[in-house]
Amino acid sequence: MNLTTFLQHIESATTLAELEIAYEASLGKKWRLNEQFAQLKTISSAEEKKALGQEIATAKESLTIAYDLQYKKLNDAVINATLDADPLDISTPSPSKHHGSYSLLSSTRRRIEDICQSMGFHIHYGHDMVSKFANFISLNIPLTHPATEMHDTFFIDEKDATGENFVLRTHTTAMDNELIKHYADNLTQHRPIKFILPSKVYRYEATDASHDTTFYQLDGVYIDEGISIAHFKDFIQKLLSAILETEVKVRMRPWYFPFVEPGYEIDASCPICQGEGCSLCKKTWWIELMGAGMLHPEVLRHAGIDGTKYSGYAFGMGINRLVAVKYRIKDIRLFTNGDMRFARSFAHSR
Ligand code: DAH
Repeated sequence: MNLTTFLQHIESATTLAELEIAYEASLGKKWRLNEQFAQLKTISSAEEKKALGQEIATAKESLTIAYDLQYKKLNDAVINATLDADPLDISTPSPSKHHGSYSLLSSTRRRIEDICQSMGFHIHYGHDMVSKFANFISLNIPLTHPATEMHDTFFIDEKDATGENFVLRTHTTAMDNELIKHYADNLTQHRPIKFILPSKVYRYEATDASHDTTFYQLDGVYIDEGISIAHFKDFIQKLLSAILETEVKVRMRPWYFPFVEPGYEIDASCPICQGEGCSLCKKTWWIELMGAGMLHPEVLRHAGIDGTKYSGYAFGMGINRLVAVKYRIKDIRLFTNGDMRFARSFAHSR
C-alpha cells in the first residue's frame, strides 16, 4: 500500500472503530512505514538515506494531520448524537434564585464564633441533656434554688448514674464544669483555658415577644494565673464592639449569680443612638446584655482547679437577645416561627 491508499483509508473511516483500524495500519505499532525505516539501515548511500528519511517524515506528518481531522469529525458527531438523544443540559441556570441561606440567628452565631476563635477561644457545643450536678450543683446553685423547680426547668424521665433525673440545660453555663475539667487535666499544657459555648438552652416558661422556651446562649470561660476582672472588661468591650459592629462602651453593675464572685450585669452603650435617646435604650443610653464575673472558688473546686493558684472569668449572654438588639427585632419568636417573609428579609449567605 502506498501513502495515498493509507490516507484514503483514514479519510473514508465512518466510525471511530474504523478509524482506529486505519490508524493501526498506517501509523500504529505495526506501521507499514516501519518497514521503510528498516530499509534505511540497509542503504549505504548517504544521499539516498536522507531522501528516503525525508519521504517517511513527510508521509508521517500528512497521515497524522489526516487522522487528527478525521478523529475530531467523528468524535464531534458522537458527542452531538449523545446530546441530541438526552437533552439535559446541566449548565443551564436554575430557574429558582433561592438557594437557601443561614438564618439571621445562625449567621450571627457563626460571626461570633469567628471573632472568638480569632481571640484564641476553643468552640464547644456540649450536649442538651445534662445532669442536675452539671446544671446546678457544680455551679454552686443549691437544689433549693427556684430554677431547680419543675415549673422552670424541663426534667427528663431518664436518670443519671446518681439516680437523679436529667434536665434540658437551662443555661450554657451547665457545660462549664465538664469543659473546665477536660482542659484542667493537663493545665500546664492547656494554659490558659479559653472556650466559648454558643448553644441552645431550654426554659419551661410562657412565650412572649422577649421570652422563648428554646433559645441560644453563649457562655465563655477564661482561666489562667493572675486573671482579674480588668482583663474581662477589656475583652468584653472589644468583643461586644466587634459583634455589634460599632465601638461601644461597657458598664458593669454588681449582681448576684451563684457561680461567680464578684458577679456583674453588663450593659453596653446603645449601639443605635449613642446616647441621643431612642426607643431601644428608652433614652437611658445603656442596654443590658449579659452576666459575668470571676469564677466562684466552689466552681473551680468542683472542676478540680486550684483556686489559690488560678483564677478566671466567665460570661454568659443570650444570642437571640443580642441579635434582636443589633437588628432591632421586636419579637424574638420571629427567629424560629418559620415566617419566610422574615427569614428572607434577613437572608444572609454566610
Ligand atoms: N447563666 C446565666 C443565665 O442563664 C448567665 C451568666 C451570668 C453566665 C453570669 C455566666 C456568668 O457565665 O458569669 O442567666
